Amino acid sequence: MDNAEIPAPYGSGPASTDTGASGETAVARRRVRTHHLKQAKDEGRKFAMLTAYDQYTAEIFDEAGIEVLLIGDSAANNVMGHATTLPITLDEMIVFARGVSAGASHALVVCDLPFGSYEVSPAEAIKSSVRLMKEGLVHAVKMEGGKHYVDHVASMTAAGIPVMAHVGFTPQSEHSLGGYRVQGRGDAARAVVEDAVALAEAGAFCVLMEMVPADVAAMVDAAVSVPTIGIGAGNATTGQVLVWQDMAGLRGGKQAKFVKQYADLRTVLGNAASAYRDDVHSGSFPGPEHSFT
Ligand code: KIV
Repeated sequence: MDNAEIPAPYGSGPASTDTGASGETAVARRRVRTHHLKQAKDEGRKFAMLTAYDQYTAEIFDEAGIEVLLIGDSAANNVMGHATTLPITLDEMIVFARGVSAGASHALVVCDLPFGSYEVSPAEAIKSSVRLMKEGLVHAVKMEGGKHYVDHVASMTAAGIPVMAHVGFTPQSEHSLGGYRVQGRGDAARAVVEDAVALAEAGAFCVLMEMVPADVAAMVDAAVSVPTIGIGAGNATTGQVLVWQDMAGLRGGKQAKFVKQYADLRTVLGNAASAYRDDVHSGSFPGPEHSFT
């Protein structure tokens, strides 16, 4: 691809090279970095983030131009079969992170600090983040929680760890928040804004908001100079994020109000599996073209 085709925000920094499936080497789009997200906000542009938990989805989303890939601790309830995000461990996150990092040539790769890996101290947060960056090869970490964590964020940032803050509804605290509930309604709006401002001032490069009223998210976006990302937070944020299985319709059951489903992968995969089963049962697979002589 010609460099002139590179759309913003892939504007600066050395170009990476890609080796295609046929082995050819081409100059590729540049890696999205944290300053490109800030540039997007400053220039009034939006960016898209999706979760990813493995190499192939990371590759597909990366090729589709998704600017940020998140190895969410939502792997716990979207891949591993847990009921909440709480059980997933740092070691497990590192395994998912490695796969995503291997598949992403252009996207900024961000990984969640899982429950139990950072709360005790800034030093613990740094140690866990270093593992995610060294072993999982991610570029930044995301940490749930409000202004209580300003010292964490300041220490992590000083240690060279880019931190994405996550405020509003924080799934790791679902038991203390009383379940999945919109945060920041009425008088509680002020606390969400204060959390975001404090964390941005402490050095967070971005503030993600989950399940907050759209007008509160807009207030946050206006109050911080860093880019914001929303999930169930209206349309005023710089970026948007969805869990990929929700976005692509892999997950069954009722979707949250904030989800827009762009495909029906559950049906596509189910139909493929049924067709394969029928071919195997009838003896038509494997055919001669799939057999060695
Ligand atoms: O873990 C996750 O998928 C997340 C998103 C919901 C933002 O934190």
